[in-house]
Amino acid sequence: MKCRKCGEKAVVNLREHRLSLCKGCYIPWFVDYTEKTIKKFRMIDRGDRVLVAVSGGKDSLALWDVLNELGYETFGLYIHLGIDYDGYSDVSLQKSKQFAERIGKKLVVVDVEKEVGAGIPELRGITRRPVCSVCGMTKRYYMNRIAMELGASVLATGHNLDDEVSQLLGNILNWNIDYLIQQSPVLPAREEGLKKKVKPFCYFTEKQTLLYTVLRNIDYVEMECPFSVGATSIFNKDILNQLEHRSPGIKRRFYDGFLNNKHVFLKDVVDEIGLRNCSNCGMPTVNEVCSFCKTKERVRSVVQ
Ligand code: AMP
Ligand code: FES
Ligand code: ZN
Repeated sequence: MKCRKCGEKAVVNLREHRLSLCKGCYIPWFVDYTEKTIKKFRMIDRGDRVLVAVSGGKDSLALWDVLNELGYETFGLYIHLGIDYDGYSDVSLQKSKQFAERIGKKLVVVDVEKEVGAGIPELRGITRRPVCSVCGMTKRYYMNRIAMELGASVLATGHNLDDEVSQLLGNILNWNIDYLIQQSPVLPAREEGLKKKVKPFCYFTEKQTLLYTVLRNIDYVEMECPFSVGATSIFNKDILNQLEHRSPGIKRRFYDGFLNNKHVFLKDVVDEIGLRNCSNCGMPTVNEVCSFCKTKERVRSVVQ
């Protein structure tokens, strides 16, 4: 198999793009394709200050690397979730710090245990909510809050096509209309205090971001979150990969089809969810007090 661009030995065959590429051509292709995605969805403008949420994993570190290569002004945010199992949160922090040093950019670290009084594993017991739901709420809260406090104009996450289509499938199977309305590679800012959110890797598969990370010698945390073992999202990813194997490009068609047709079948649903500011912390919420502050209050009552 030869590289379509230069004729060297190819390292990858991108079936859905009908393109085989060598190592030397893959990296620039990947960077260019990210820029095309950014432009297509008007994700980032020159002059934006981009806060990149990094987990220490391959996708978010690769994203920070590419945005940096493209010349955007970036800084990173790592949220320490207090997950001790095999040192998961500590190792992830260390990989994120190491990468920030490599590219010479600032990394902001938030420690959930210090801020809330309990880490994610304890919050699971205290709130009796599924761990990924408390974790997701906490991460979203801090991502937005730090972006507000530090004057970022855009918040970027490393979600890839596999993340997006598995979430989409889960949301459709359960008809989670509220989540479907919100699912998008770009969410605009809201004046109540929500920052613009973008997912510039939404068209890359997990394998493609992994290949970029490896070819760029980026040291990332390989361990998965211990709470993700057996998660439905992982099962869904596997099913979607089986579909992709039979019909190359199906994941992309599923995703694009949803984005293009979303307004047709969701058109009667309120476009804008009413938001106000949390009476305690000021962050946007649909209730008087936001879920994060309610969780914090619960921790206080249990710990005291
Ligand atoms: P996940 O929800 O774990 O699939 O991660 C999706 C994206 O959220 C990652 O690509 C990161 O951009 C961001 N993210 C996940 N975990 C963290 C974390 N602990 N700190 C900061 N950003 C994170
Ligand atoms: Fe949040 Fe695993 S990263 S529960
Ligand atoms: Zn609040």
